[in-house]
Amino acid sequence: MYDFDIAADDKAGLYAELARVADALTEGEPDAIANMANVAALLWETLPDLNWAGFYRNVGGELVLGPFQGRPACIRIPFGKGVCGTAAASLEPQCVTDVHAFPGHIACDSASASELVVPIVRDGVLLAVLDLDSPRRGRFDGEDVAGCVALARLLALRLAQ
Ligand code: SME
Repeated sequence: MYDFDIAADDKAGLYAELARVADALTEGEPDAIANMANVAALLWETLPDLNWAGFYRNVGGELVLGPFQGRPACIRIPFGKGVCGTAAASLEPQCVTDVHAFPGHIACDSASASELVVPIVRDGVLLAVLDLDSPRRGRFDGEDVAGCVALARLLALRLAQ
């Protein structure tokens, strides 16, 4: 059993703790799917106000659904489409305050109101994107971006097959 205790006074502290536990959960495990599954569960348990947390993998230049928590989601997303495809094509994090105002947003769950997608890149190659959805408009801010970018840097080392 993995029993971790995450407690923090502020958001930066919460992400620091998240990174520490994600590091411990994935250390020494070479299977990318197993590592994404555990980190999706960790994010889901730790971050408040989410209705989806998980990954899309870069499979031959297309995003394909990976491990996640939340409602069943669309399976394939072309690069350049939606929030995930925009992050994949640009290799830049996408922090969307209001998904309904994002051109081409792909609605997998009508409850989603805001979204944060962070690319996971190793040696200039996109491995996957980390996707967080919230039912609360404006749920994600610069601290969430910084925390998820730090997590993505760690995961880039843990998702190579
Ligand atoms: N909303 C995403 C699709 C994935 S779901 O949120 C899980 C998008 O526009 O790319």
